[in-house]
Amino acid sequence: MKKILVTGANGQLGKELHDIAKQFIDVEFLFLSREDLPIHHFDLVRNTFQAFKPDYCINCAAYTAVDKAETEKELAYIVNAEAVGILAAVAASIQCKFIHVSTDYIYDGDKKGEHFEDNLPKAVSVYGDSKLKGELAAIENNPTSIIIRTSWVYSVHGNNFVKTMMRLMRDRPEISVVNDQHGSPTWAADLASFIMHVIGYVNWQPGIYNFSNEGNITWYDFANEIKQLISADCKINPIPTSDYPTPAKRPANSLMNKDKIKSSFAYTPIDWKVSLKNCIQALSKG
Ligand SMILES: NC(=O)c1ccc[n+]([C@@H]2O[C@H](COP(=O)([O-])OP(=O)(O)OC[C@H]3O[C@@H](n4cnc5c(N)ncnc54)[C@H](OP(=O)(O)O)[C@@H]3O)[C@@H](O)[C@H]2O)c1
Repeated sequence: MKKILVTGANGQLGKELHDIAKQFIDVEFLFLSREDLPIHHFDLVRNTFQAFKPDYCINCAAYTAVDKAETEKELAYIVNAEAVGILAAVAASIQCKFIHVSTDYIYDGDKKGEHFEDNLPKAVSVYGDSKLKGELAAIENNPTSIIIRTSWVYSVHGNNFVKTMMRLMRDRPEISVVNDQHGSPTWAADLASFIMHVIGYVNWQPGIYNFSNEGNITWYDFANEIKQLISADCKINPIPTSDYPTPAKRPANSLMNKDKIKSSFAYTPIDWKVSLKNCIQALSKG
């Protein structure tokens, strides 16, 4: 019986892991929300690991308020960097394998083409930099960590682009969506399945891995596909990022190459349109 501790269990990814947990009859999960285990309470982290003695920890906890992080720097770095280092170290101290989730926001958004895992990072926001520091802390304190960089995450749970667009498209005759940021969406349900695939894989392969659905799109393309799937009448205007200023800068290109997960874990990500359709179907079922 494997034991898996999931932090940040009330987030999009945490809840998707919870949804599939029952499929794994040989696994005892412990799902801990921010209230149960604030990862920046280091003594509580140590005590929790000592008491449960997990074989794996999946860190889904993160400070994810990208714009707010610009003014709440200290908290962003504590949660996304310092606490990740502590989690990784505590996991290492009891031979618990550590899986940490990171972001496309660590990449150089000005680069043309896909980002590879060994490309030089260049975060342009506090959030991106705090996540990058978290990766480094995890690797330093626990060199056997697996770090999964993902992008544009959505889910039936929580607040995200897909749910916001569905609401706006039903409420408004016209909306504007950015059309000069390129990337790939990730259905959190697919990411959850991939993480469990990695845990069940024949051998543990530490390192950094990109993960998203397949596809190269803009937020405007994403919105148009949502519109089609929900048969909305709303007009969608493509706009440049400069027309939608935000406190935190976003990478213009966050496309990630995913050959490494294909070769290391024999895993082929699902096409973004297929997963979006599945998520919207799941949402409409309630
Ligand atoms: N969402 C995206 O578009 C995106 C893109 C790229 C990478 N990622 C990364 O993917 C991972 C999962 O993201 P997600 O979309 O599932 O995020 P999410 O929905 O915001 O979930 C994060 C969870 O972490 C919890 N949390 C925050 N501070 C905490 C703390 N100090 N201690 C314990 N828990 C804490 C939050 O608690 P509350 O529920 O109480 O707020 C929330 O439940 C994160 O590492 C994120 O950086 C996300």
